[in-house]
Amino acid sequence: MPDRFELPLGFQWGAATAAYQIEGAVNEDGRGPSVWDTFSARPGAVRDGHTGAVACDHYHRYPEDIALMKGLGLDGYRFSIAWPRVLPTGSGPVNPAGLAFYDRLVDALLEADITPLPTLFHWDLPQALEDTGGWLNRDTAYRFADYATVMADHLGDRVPTWITLNEPFVHTVFGYALGTHAPGRTLMFEALPAAHHQLLAHGLAASLLHERGLEVMLSNNLTPVWPASSAPDDLAAAEAYDTLHNRLFTDPVLLGRYPDLSALGVPDDIYGAVHPGDPDLIHTPRLDGLGLNFYNPTRIAAPTTPTLPFDLVDIPEAPHTAFGWPVVPDALRQLLRHLRDSYGKALPPITITENGCSVTESTTPDQPRIDYLATHLDALAQAVAEGIDIRGYYTWSLLDNFEWAEGYHQRFGLVHVDFATQRRTPKASYAWYRDLIATHRLYR
Ligand code: NOJ
Repeated sequence: MPDRFELPLGFQWGAATAAYQIEGAVNEDGRGPSVWDTFSARPGAVRDGHTGAVACDHYHRYPEDIALMKGLGLDGYRFSIAWPRVLPTGSGPVNPAGLAFYDRLVDALLEADITPLPTLFHWDLPQALEDTGGWLNRDTAYRFADYATVMADHLGDRVPTWITLNEPFVHTVFGYALGTHAPGRTLMFEALPAAHHQLLAHGLAASLLHERGLEVMLSNNLTPVWPASSAPDDLAAAEAYDTLHNRLFTDPVLLGRYPDLSALGVPDDIYGAVHPGDPDLIHTPRLDGLGLNFYNPTRIAAPTTPTLPFDLVDIPEAPHTAFGWPVVPDALRQLLRHLRDSYGKALPPITITENGCSVTESTTPDQPRIDYLATHLDALAQAVAEGIDIRGYYTWSLLDNFEWAEGYHQRFGLVHVDFATQRRTPKASYAWYRDLIATHRLYR
């Protein structure tokens, strides 16, 4: 491993969070309910009944959190805007107090010399829109475009680059197919219209943002798909999984067409959701950057039950994080290479918009996280050396926070949060990341 990174000039070092995971203050200043408020109130939906009602209380403590970012020397901060804070019922009148929070946040970031990188949708759909079908309803895409316009008109003078959606794969599959995330629907492949409507929402919003001179990214969590063997059934299963996890959410945006969905048993028009002209709406506003959230590779075997055309299997030879996810840093380099080889000139510059791991609270001095980050950054440096255009790296996450269905059990932060007192304590990985940003040296 090289001791020092060779990274492009202007490379952005950052950290990422999301509104429902850190803000709390769910009933304050006119915020409307989101699907995550509803879902987390449902008994058994979230581990130990945890909710994001208070989370890291970032809504009130953002000055302290920005001071922590400043202490790291971050160039950029990726956060998300809670749609129901700005438009409590998803559409209709704007809530000025909600907008004012994001004014305060953005102004304080700029004051600290940190570039704000907002995500417009990180899974907290206004409940009122879910009540009319959520992302299964095409109209939600148009409501998203209106919301994006409100935000761009309000913050576009201070915020140059916007991420439309976060991980539409996870939101579709966990939220609408399997029901382990909000809104908790269990539609299996019939969930896929929700994917198309999110991509349509991205395209509509991207055009409006471009008209306002703003740059647009989309954050996908992509994974290298490893077939369990070279047996034809395993290879076919791996291809089906790659279609669902990676290509379904990337081909339409970069190439203007959906991959062949027949291996998933899904009709080409995704159960009538794809209207003529939609692929152009998704593709024409060219992405200025692809946001890549990377955590782990996925091993796929031929199905053992008729329910799905693939089985997800473990990668036992790899170490695992506290969450049980395999740690394979070189998979990041493989993925970056694969993206370059598959999309060629259609691939825009890449920003890693999330990468990190959950470490058990009692682990001191947080060495597994330092190792995870250092080895993944080494893989990233190798990809840069191979000529792949990577513009920045945002670690997940600044703070321990509400990890969705896992509640507060998985700790991804560089900063420890005591959820009983809201006390923040920087971990060893915080000091490590600070030194890395300052020197570009990998301390291990
Ligand atoms: C991806 C999601 O965007 C984020 O919200 C989540 O906390 C991390 N992965 C870790 O699971």
